[in-house]
Amino acid sequence: MRDIRLSYSRTAMPSERDALSGPQIIQKRDLDAAPRVRAQQCGLWELSRDPAVKIACIGAGPAGLYFAITMKLREPAHEIEVFERNAAGVTFGWGVVFSDLTVDNITANDPVSAKTITDEFAHWDDIDVHFRGECITSGGHGFIGIGRKRLLEILQDRARALGVALHFEAECDPGDPKWRDYDLVIASDGINSRFRDASPEAFGVDVDVRANKFVWLGTSKVFDAFTFAFEETEHGWIWAHAYRFAPDCSTFIVECSEETWTSFGFDRMSQDEAIAACEKLFAKYLDGHKLMSNATHLRGSAAWLNFRRIKCERWSTGNVILLGDAAHTAHFSVGSGTKLALEDAIKLADVLNRTGLSLEAAMDEYVAERNLEVLKLQNSARNSTEWFETLERYTHFEPLQFAYSLLTRSQRISHENLRLRDREWLEGVERWFWKRATDGQSNKTAPPMFAPFQMRELRLENRVTVSPMAMYSAVDGTPNDFHFVHYGERAMGGAGLVFTEMTCVSPEGRISPGCTGMWNEEHVAAWTRIVDFVHANSKARICLQLGHSGAKGSTRVGWEEDNAPLPDGNWPVMAASDVSWSPVNQMPQPMTRADMDSVRDQFVTAVRMGLECGFDMIELHAAHGYLLSGFLTPLQNRRTDEYGGSLENRLRYPLEVFAAMRAAWPSDKPMSVRISATDWAGDNGITADDAVEIGEAFAREGADLIDVSAGQTWTGAQPVYGRMFQTPFSDKIRNEARLATMAVGNIYEPDHANSILAAGRADLVALARPHLIDPFWTLRAAAQLDYRDVHVPPQYLNGMAQLARNLKREAEAAAALRV
Ligand SMILES: Cc1cc2nc3c(=O)[nH]c(=O)nc-3n(C[C@H](O)[C@H](O)[C@H](O)COP(=O)(O)OP(=O)(O)OC[C@H]3O[C@@H](n4cnc5c(N)ncnc54)[C@H](O)[C@@H]3O)c2cc1C
Ligand SMILES: Cc1cc2nc3c(=O)[nH]c(=O)nc-3n(C[C@H](O)[C@H](O)[C@H](O)COP(=O)(O)O)c2cc1C
Repeated sequence: MRDIRLSYSRTAMPSERDALSGPQIIQKRDLDAAPRVRAQQCGLWELSRDPAVKIACIGAGPAGLYFAITMKLREPAHEIEVFERNAAGVTFGWGVVFSDLTVDNITANDPVSAKTITDEFAHWDDIDVHFRGECITSGGHGFIGIGRKRLLEILQDRARALGVALHFEAECDPGDPKWRDYDLVIASDGINSRFRDASPEAFGVDVDVRANKFVWLGTSKVFDAFTFAFEETEHGWIWAHAYRFAPDCSTFIVECSEETWTSFGFDRMSQDEAIAACEKLFAKYLDGHKLMSNATHLRGSAAWLNFRRIKCERWSTGNVILLGDAAHTAHFSVGSGTKLALEDAIKLADVLNRTGLSLEAAMDEYVAERNLEVLKLQNSARNSTEWFETLERYTHFEPLQFAYSLLTRSQRISHENLRLRDREWLEGVERWFWKRATDGQSNKTAPPMFAPFQMRELRLENRVTVSPMAMYSAVDGTPNDFHFVHYGERAMGGAGLVFTEMTCVSPEGRISPGCTGMWNEEHVAAWTRIVDFVHANSKARICLQLGHSGAKGSTRVGWEEDNAPLPDGNWPVMAASDVSWSPVNQMPQPMTRADMDSVRDQFVTAVRMGLECGFDMIELHAAHGYLLSGFLTPLQNRRTDEYGGSLENRLRYPLEVFAAMRAAWPSDKPMSVRISATDWAGDNGITADDAVEIGEAFAREGADLIDVSAGQTWTGAQPVYGRMFQTPFSDKIRNEARLATMAVGNIYEPDHANSILAAGRADLVALARPHLIDPFWTLRAAAQLDYRDVHVPPQYLNGMAQLARNLKREAEAAAALRV
């Protein structure tokens, strides 16, 4: 292979000047050829008589064609050939949707093809969600679509006009020696790329075959809105994603679970039979129009696919570069595969033509930039894919909430995004939420986070909570003035519920010497002072979190060194098994039955003391690898008796403790339990499915709320961090087990809270770190969202009013700037 170095000259070909955002022509050349370098530096460089770069694009999909166009725009002298296995005009699929941003990108890159494409766009604004006999319509979504066939025709014409050689009915074999004659081989051969699969190790290919079945059909029925049609049948749920992409044609993708698909007998049907079955199923949406397939090359059930999510660690090997779907895919429900392919093509052409950039450096930049985009999109696409795969989790929702959940499924669209798109619709959702939260008593149109929440006889003023946070500031377990100010201030800050830090049931059950406790009268007096202040000066309720540290006990305070043993004065620790937290931590003593009795009784005593203090609620801490969590997780629990082994056995002792606490706590007062819904250890630890069982087991013992945290149960965990990263576990437990849940973990914007609550992913949201630096997080959110009915301590009313005014002014100024 020839050594390739590409670089720009600063003169554009006259025919291309209009088409280029900046006049750039690339030239393959040897950078060491001094005259040319000098010429280039002067900006006077003419086309070289050297052979141009010879490029083969495998596949005439959007990626291959658009890359060929983009390269030619930069250097007309390149020799570019595109090889396509199908005949011209034969393609799979129907329409594709674009975003405004993609249009901007392609317009900047090639105004000529962009104009032809945008002239033919079908535009629509509404999304219709048909569910349980209702059609929920929301507006302002602004889609644009075009037929895939038409898009490819436009790109083919443009490529030909620029001098690209197109070869149709040309199946390419990666083993063919002729590819060595090309400087670059662009593997734009789609999701089933033979060129990628010929070197799986070199590319580090990762394929995730998703659960649902789908088929990409077309119809002459013109859908004026992007339409989701969900149908419940005797075989399960089946649904269609439909949208218009031409004046007389719509895409109609049918999707269902594999179980439903088999139960329908789609696996045994010919393509015609399957289409007839779908026409019957969706007859009321089709108004007599036919469904059509253009996957004629696929026989029978083969036209149905399982989506394959492709990821590659590396995007090039030798002279082969992956582009578009060959390198990565994003589920069709986020409609971004074509956008990715086109934007990849632009970036690849850019880096290949950067002055003085070696091929290696060009590839590094291409992969680094595009991979970030791909990861972001694949993340949203995964959320969206999973939403459809777990559809039955949400089918108990009322149609309005179902539609909200569908619209926010990828987490790219939030509550406030929906307000911008369709204020009236969003306010309808807010009214619905409040009505439901108040048993029909309230007609308020207000953010969901401010709606009340009832557990037994306890009514919370709103749905924001201060998550438990150890302050490591007590002496001998007694909370002091620090705690008085800390909890008092957070209660005045507007949250509906304030959790105490993990308060330990015995001296040896503490994590550190600074942990608060509940085992003597001094503790009762100190906590009573705090609880009384909270009740007298705020509308917040206060929940006592009780726990025992287990194997993670006898360690330094959090800010010195997390989980590190004390330099001296360590006390012996006990746990489910003799598994130490880490090699530097003590080996715990496995608990005997007598130990278990004694610790259970300590929890009960602490509950009674909590009642004496006037706490409104009790939470049992069974998360984060502490004593009870250590029983639940197989990573710490190695017992061979009835408390180890199966999940049922591992649950036995934590449930016994919970039941004893429940019996000691008044039946009109609620209790919650905090769990780690995953060990982040795959099937070796607690899984999300286990977490549903755990939640159900505690609910059977009288838990009113499952506080869904995750991880911190072993040192090897690899959590997947991000915004609201633990909320999917709350969603799963809430909607599969139908339990009240609280979500926690990197929820920090009011918009996060409202999106989670309105979508029914949790009943309460807990914020920990945001409350450390801003005790008044809830009041600030109320000011930001212009919600007036929040309780403000009278001493602070002036400040609240000023904050609200200033924020409003700022928002108006920002809006004026946007206009
Ligand atoms: C049901 C469904 C709906 C979708 N909806 C949308 C949407 O709304 N919006 C959107 O942006 N994207 C959508 N996509 C994704 C989109 O189709 C792809 O992401 C996009 O086509 C990727 O472009 P590409 O050029 O990389 O691959 P492709 O479009 O797959 O093109 C690859 C080409 O290579 C050819 N080829 C393959 N192997 C060989 C070979 N060995 N020799 C010669 N030729 C070969 C193929 O015939 C094909 O023409 C959807 C996908 C599906 C499955
Ligand atoms: C300083 C600090 C102390 C914490 N102590 C406790 C605790 O005592 N009990 C508990 O269940 N979780 C504790 N956590 C975990 C938080 O309650 C919360 O689950 C976690 O910080 C994630 O939420 P965030 O992203 O809002 O901070 C603590 C977190 C922090 C930051």
